[in-house]
Amino acid sequence: MKLLCVAGARPNFMKIAPILREMKKHPSLQPKLVHTGQHYDNKMSDIFFKELQIPEPDIHLNVGSGTHAEQTAEIMKRFETVVLQEKPDWVVVLGDINSTLACSVTASKLHVPVAHVEAGLRSSDRSMPEEINRLVTDAIAEVLFTTEKSGNENLLKEGKSEKQIYFTGNVMIDSLVFAQPQISQSQTAANLKLSEKSYCITTLHRPSNVDNLKSLSKIFEILHAIQLKLPVVFPIHPRTRKMIETFGLTDKVAKMKNLKLMDPVGYFDFVGLTAYAKMAITDSGGLQEETTYLGIPCLTMRENTERPITIEVGTNTLVGLDEPLIHKKVDEVLNGTYKKGNIPELWDGRAAERITNVFIKLA
Ligand code: UD1
Ligand code: UDP
Repeated sequence: MKLLCVAGARPNFMKIAPILREMKKHPSLQPKLVHTGQHYDNKMSDIFFKELQIPEPDIHLNVGSGTHAEQTAEIMKRFETVVLQEKPDWVVVLGDINSTLACSVTASKLHVPVAHVEAGLRSSDRSMPEEINRLVTDAIAEVLFTTEKSGNENLLKEGKSEKQIYFTGNVMIDSLVFAQPQISQSQTAANLKLSEKSYCITTLHRPSNVDNLKSLSKIFEILHAIQLKLPVVFPIHPRTRKMIETFGLTDKVAKMKNLKLMDPVGYFDFVGLTAYAKMAITDSGGLQEETTYLGIPCLTMRENTERPITIEVGTNTLVGLDEPLIHKKVDEVLNGTYKKGNIPELWDGRAAERITNVFIKLA
């Protein structure tokens, strides 16, 4: 069975690593990796290949950045040529980025079945580009792998059949489990002279938060107040850095002495910083899951989440940009009354093994 596995942006790399590792154990499966090039900076792409031992991509589409239409169209054009040449039996896509949508649409129109890893998640917020990507990808995917039961329920409601859906768990957590030894040796917090459980880790990049002056200014007002309570470590996503500069907020941000801004960090350092943090404040999908697995309190600066299990079972709370609520929750973390969580079902480091077993049965 020939599988074209597609990865394009930072959160895809932690998800593809365990899948390729597992598939390569089985001679009946011949996976090839396609990197769309949606993310391309060393700190947004190459570093994860090195750390997570992802093989060099077999095919690189080098699309780079653009508007949604430009980027999606360019991926589709370039991926179409690849599918016609490679004639895969399956195209495997991950998550909810533009690369996911572009490659699933392209493959489906060439009558190549699509398998979607991390299917069925729904924020019910169609102003979020990822929600459109999820809805379209799941509508055309033949096989759907879910990370939590809400995904199964959403897919059944949308008319997918029981036998297309496999609850296989969370491949993001597979990478976390795989990297435990290196994560536990990360010196990033120590290098910043921060002791264990003394600081907050932050990453933010959702367009609804960072692409307009009002919300981005409000976020920095909130972070200003938080960094008076505990240091905030903030590896900045390139979109967010660009918007800080565009809106002329650079000086204001630089004045916050307890806000430690830095370039994006590698996976071992990021999860290391998270594991030793007192809490997280974020709008990242992956970080909501990682904090739940690690038992670290997480305040999510969004009005909704497509990952409800992180709230129902895990350590996550939706706080939007509600300043009084955020302070209440930060104080709960600091005085030890914040809720404790559990690890969701099948977030056990073996999701890629279960996904691979499904393909072996399909072969
Ligand atoms: C994308 C995904 C989002 C995911 C995020 C993970 C879509 C619609 N969005 O958002 O779901 O959560 O990745 O990080 O697919 N840039 C660089 N260097 C890079 C990559 C991007 O400087 O290596 C800058 C460019 O200015 C670019 C901007 O970041 O225009 C946004 O990149 P893009 O991939 O379009 O969206 P993200 O915000 O990264
Ligand atoms: N991450 C990282 N370095 C950083 C920020 C994040 O390695 O500086 C990792 C982290 O493990 C996170 C993953 O990248 O779970 C994906 O994060 P991102 O927020 O980019 O995407 P999302 O999950 O929101 O789609």
